[in-house]
Amino acid sequence: MHMKFSVIPKGGRMNTPDIFSDTEAVLLMSDPVEKANASIALYRLWLSLSDSLKDEVLAMTSASVVKVLQAPGRPERPELVEAHQLPRRGLGSVQGRVALVHSLAHIEFNAINLALDAVYRFRGMPTDYVTDWLRVASDEGEHFLLLHHRLAELDSHYGALVAHDGLWDMARRTDHDVLVRMALVPRILEARGLDVAPPMIAKLQHLKDEATAKILQRIYTDEITHVEVGNRWFRYVCEQQSLDGTTVFRDLLRGENSAYLRSPYNREARLQAGFNEQELALIREMELEYKAASRS
Ligand SMILES: [Fe+2]
Ligand SMILES: [Fe+2]
Repeated sequence: MHMKFSVIPKGGRMNTPDIFSDTEAVLLMSDPVEKANASIALYRLWLSLSDSLKDEVLAMTSASVVKVLQAPGRPERPELVEAHQLPRRGLGSVQGRVALVHSLAHIEFNAINLALDAVYRFRGMPTDYVTDWLRVASDEGEHFLLLHHRLAELDSHYGALVAHDGLWDMARRTDHDVLVRMALVPRILEARGLDVAPPMIAKLQHLKDEATAKILQRIYTDEITHVEVGNRWFRYVCEQQSLDGTTVFRDLLRGENSAYLRSPYNREARLQAGFNEQELALIREMELEYKAASRS
């Protein structure tokens, strides 16, 4: 990896790191494998700093100025297409399996960007917030690499097929406010992964694709902790601003944002990830409200 982090000691002396500039640099990387490896390396470097140095770094003015990102760094391929243009294939064939692994690799690539952006964009959050989201970015990097290797085993690669355009939409729509970002990205988009993963894993096991099933199981276990991170920081910001979380969530779910809600929900995993009963009921209610409104 040719990435030079500002936290890498030069001439044997540790520079004062600039975590926001480093995060920005990784966010702008376009090569997916390089970006995945850099995300993992960035988290390791962050963990290697003492707690007091971490605090110092965050108190320092960063050379990186927060930009509106129409898109983070990404490779020329995959070609991005509208969701309805994505070919639908069953999992029974190898091509179907390749298509599934490719679409998951694309989701993980985007997840790296989303986690890095949560660090890069929202300054002035506590040190643990930065640690949490750098950890998530590192996990997503690992997830991407697992799928990247699986694609190679299946004689394919990331970029070989078209992919879903619009995964960055929610990032753009929530880039003005950490509360809105936490409410909608981890708690709606990532949480959706918790609902769809177990049946998908079961299907792959049924088809005797243990290798892919194992990767998905690993991802699923990690994703519960990512949603938990989102829930925890959502509650933190609500508390800071003396807001009632359920009311805020309800307001944010009015209208288009509810288009992402789809039952059945994985109750057990969602409870484990820190949702409460009231919120689970609210999610169900908002889904029905949205469906009723789009029918009329
Ligand atoms: Fe992931
Ligand atoms: Fe995740």
